[in-house]
Amino acid sequence: MTDNAGSPRHLEASGEPEHERQIDRRRSATAEAAAPTPRRLSPACGALLTGIDLSQPLAPAAKQRVLAAFRDYHVLVFPDQALSRQQQYEFSANFGEVERSGGSAGALKRHGVAHVISNLDAEGKPADRSASPVSNYRWHTDKAYRPVPPRLTSLYAVEVPAGGGDTEFANTARAYDALPPATKRRIDRLRVVFRWGASRERSAPGSILPGPISPSMPELQPAVDHPLVRAHPDTGAKALYLGNHSSHIAGLPEAEGRALLDALVEHATQRRFVYAHRWRIGDLIMWDNCCLLHRAVANFDTARERRILHRTVVKGTLPV
Ligand code: OGA
Ligand code: MN
Repeated sequence: MTDNAGSPRHLEASGEPEHERQIDRRRSATAEAAAPTPRRLSPACGALLTGIDLSQPLAPAAKQRVLAAFRDYHVLVFPDQALSRQQQYEFSANFGEVERSGGSAGALKRHGVAHVISNLDAEGKPADRSASPVSNYRWHTDKAYRPVPPRLTSLYAVEVPAGGGDTEFANTARAYDALPPATKRRIDRLRVVFRWGASRERSAPGSILPGPISPSMPELQPAVDHPLVRAHPDTGAKALYLGNHSSHIAGLPEAEGRALLDALVEHATQRRFVYAHRWRIGDLIMWDNCCLLHRAVANFDTARERRILHRTVVKGTLPV
């Protein structure tokens, strides 16, 4: 069980009859439509934004509020949304160019605008992949193995397990700030080498690619390197940039770099830096890939319960 799993928000929501919740929702929708006020979800990061209907075009004032909240909280939760994939795509496009999905995801999961993240196999049955070294169940930041990794990701909850199936977010800017000055000096100019599947190679050297090979597969892209300590594109705040798919540190012996990366992930993912989100159907979350690690949590029956989310990814800038 996670720290935030029983947060007041979830207790409140489940204690109210559905029709009262709907009335509340309508009331807050009119009152706050142009100016949703963020409510902090944890000391680490995360804010709840109610009274905003993401299926509608975002008014300029609302967009400014969302951007300000995103800068301050890094993880925004918009509850009670009813979104088609196209609408999720259009909302995401407020914040930059939406990346096309593809890569190694199965054909069923691909979609031009918002793609499907699920625990279903090719036959549509739940399957447990939580032990895979390349799965979302490992702490990571999205597509760090790309030369220009994405700015933000959005997930929209379509089906969630009865209890659990959380997503956790660790604030790596706070984690950086909390490091001793000597460690900051040691790591400030280091660069991390990322390669898709670096983690898999460590646990299963020489493992063979599954299924057919296409040139766009992330498995086949060359390694890239990014600063271990990156400046946030909006604020300049320094944050650790690391996680799954990191291979080693440029210029350090591999084992030494690996040990440093492991220690920093362990530091950054202490509970005090983490917000754990317990999903409800209709939640849309957008998160900042520049200053967070995140992971799915296998705190549900992954081989029996369905968990389906729709996802968009918005392009970013070169990490500096
Ligand atoms: C992702 C991801 C985590 C989850 O979509 O990038 O890491 O909880 N998802 O599904
Ligand atoms: Mn991810």
